[in-house]
Amino acid sequence: MENFVYEYPTKVYFGKGAAGQHLPGILADYGPNVLLAYGGGSIKRNGVYEELTGILQAAGKTVTEFAGIMSNPTWAKVQEGARLARERKIDLILAVGGGSVVDCCKIVAAQAVTDEDLWDLEMVRHKMPAKAPIPLGAVVTASGTGAEMNGGAVITNEEVKIKGGMFAAAPRFAVLDPAYTLTLPRMQVLSGAFDTLSHAMETYFGRSDRDNVSDEVAEAVMRSTVTNMRTLLKDINDYTARSNLMWTSAMAENGILKVGRLTDFECHQIEHQLGAYTDCNHGQGLAVIHPAYYRHIYKSAVPKFARFARNVWGIDPAGKTEEEAAQAGILALEAFILECGLPTKLSQLRSRAEITPALLRQVADSCNLLPNGYKQLTRDEVYDILMECL
Ligand code: NZQ
Ligand code: ZN
Repeated sequence: MENFVYEYPTKVYFGKGAAGQHLPGILADYGPNVLLAYGGGSIKRNGVYEELTGILQAAGKTVTEFAGIMSNPTWAKVQEGARLARERKIDLILAVGGGSVVDCCKIVAAQAVTDEDLWDLEMVRHKMPAKAPIPLGAVVTASGTGAEMNGGAVITNEEVKIKGGMFAAAPRFAVLDPAYTLTLPRMQVLSGAFDTLSHAMETYFGRSDRDNVSDEVAEAVMRSTVTNMRTLLKDINDYTARSNLMWTSAMAENGILKVGRLTDFECHQIEHQLGAYTDCNHGQGLAVIHPAYYRHIYKSAVPKFARFARNVWGIDPAGKTEEEAAQAGILALEAFILECGLPTKLSQLRSRAEITPALLRQVADSCNLLPNGYKQLTRDEVYDILMECL
């Protein structure tokens, strides 16, 4: 294994009724001023807003609302939240939503305590914020990203056309009530769950030794994610499957799978940069890119892809060369994406710009190239992968 330091910053409260049961006690530990952050309004339609504002009022908190956090949150939205948090002397930020709300609030929490521009600090000068952020808690209403259990945040800077990963405040606590996810649109449920599968795959296919305990845990997370997604294909409201997926989502991004190993995450880099140009849905973008990406890299890691086929997709290696087994695993992944009704071509993504070869060239030329996958990609290879997805 690689050397590692592992620490768990987030306390998790999981289960039906978790907010009502635990939030009153949690809130007692924080000052009076709470920033209640949320997205485009789903929480007002499904009763979560009413429940949480009731709990906050009963706890005697002064609530400032920070609403309208969009999917793929922008740097401008972070600055809006930071201004509010500063003006209202916020003691606790409560982020209620999916990955977008939680991510936006992570950076708001750090940006509010400094005059320094954190984009410039982190993305240009590659330094970390020095001051402790405002405490942050997450109430998850859409699972998949695992954002609630890590300090990473993905923010789109529209001015420079970069969707990039930043690091700031990890939530101190996370309330995970699977019942809160029941009003999610079907496609978001499935694309969120595919994001979870992608996180486990991206970690698993990092360049590392083959007998790492984290890989065995990753296989279990991948199998469970696939099994529970298949249950949802039959009954999208199955609570047990929703609760399992809520936990595999957290497991895939809480650092457990990354312990003692290097990770890939190149597919995420490509998707994020595609998102900067198109504003596409994250999980759907990943579903399109993953098979093409793996067809390009598997020859550099045939034994690992054959193991993926066997241990995740149950493919019998008998009568197959190792390379044939590896290819069968990628085909199984592709078939599963189709089975879920997720997009398989870029033209199926909702995009704010027409997806043309010229746009894909810009995506390839601006996307991060990471060093720890089995194959180091060039920009031309990223372009070829994207063109294969057209
Ligand atoms: O804005 P509202 O009205 O709340 O609607 C949202 C949004 O339209 C809706 N929604 C959420 N909960 C709902 C609900 N609708 C009905 N009922 C509910 N209970 O769902 C839509 C999508 O929400 P969003 O938060 O954008 O989705 P997701 O959780 O997939 O987050 C995506 C963002 O997370 C980043 C992605 O890049 C993207 O920006 N990621 C963050 C990661 C991290 N911090 O660890 C890792 C991931 O790889 C990912 O990159
Ligand atoms: Zn992701």
